[in-house]
Amino acid sequence: MIQKKIIIGNWKLNPTTVREAKELFAKVKNKASKAKNVVTVVCPPAPWLALWAGLKPSKVFGLGAQDSFTEVEGGFTGQVSPVMLKNIGASHVIIGHSERRAAGDGDELINQKVKAALKAGLTVVLCVGETVRDDHGVYLETIKEQILVGLAKIPKPMFGKVIVAYEPVWAIGVNATGVDTPEAFVAQKIYIRKILSHLAGTKEAMSIPVLYGGSVSPKNAADFLGFGQADGLLVGRASLRADLFTEIINIAEHVAKTSKK
Ligand code: PGA
Repeated sequence: MIQKKIIIGNWKLNPTTVREAKELFAKVKNKASKAKNVVTVVCPPAPWLALWAGLKPSKVFGLGAQDSFTEVEGGFTGQVSPVMLKNIGASHVIIGHSERRAAGDGDELINQKVKAALKAGLTVVLCVGETVRDDHGVYLETIKEQILVGLAKIPKPMFGKVIVAYEPVWAIGVNATGVDTPEAFVAQKIYIRKILSHLAGTKEAMSIPVLYGGSVSPKNAADFLGFGQADGLLVGRASLRADLFTEIINIAEHVAKTSKK
């Protein structure tokens, strides 16, 4: 049974200064450390990650990266090594985000990245989601493929370090055309777990957290976490505002506490 909610902030290519990055991080970490029923993970852009190198390991707060490479060292200009991430104290890495997929990452490459990250000891947040939602459920095939290929040939015990974030692409970012509904998410989560059970086994699949992402805000966080039964949220824009992001952490703490009773 998963109890702690997982709130992940994906800063994407923001902010542009060290001062802003430090300020945002400090405010979020301060709040996150007090929310004992939430695991908060902040994913700054790669150049900022080392600002928090050696961060003390914590059960409720982690540092994450937005992507990592298939190799750990060598002649790979511009890449980010999962082992280096681990060595500076990162605990999580997002892989297969729709913005990386749009930049050319296919399911096979994503699978190689996932394997390398898991091998390095990182927890992987695999993002899946359709670009268009049709009425006939064809989009479900996309999600199935993304999971089956993205997580192919992963040793079963390693699924303990896998998180799946379901993010319909049409609901992401400034060009979002809508937000999914908590009702729809309930069904997506069951569907995703069913696919995961083919890879990890039924029992193990039940304990893989499935998060919702796409235009998450303090307005809809409680619905997704409560009624929608999301194990957590992947937050983009709202993670850049300390006030909004810490409000989402508070909401998650409240929902987690209430559902414990
Ligand atoms: P958004 O981004 O919250 O700004 O829609 C979500 C994401 O890209 O993970």
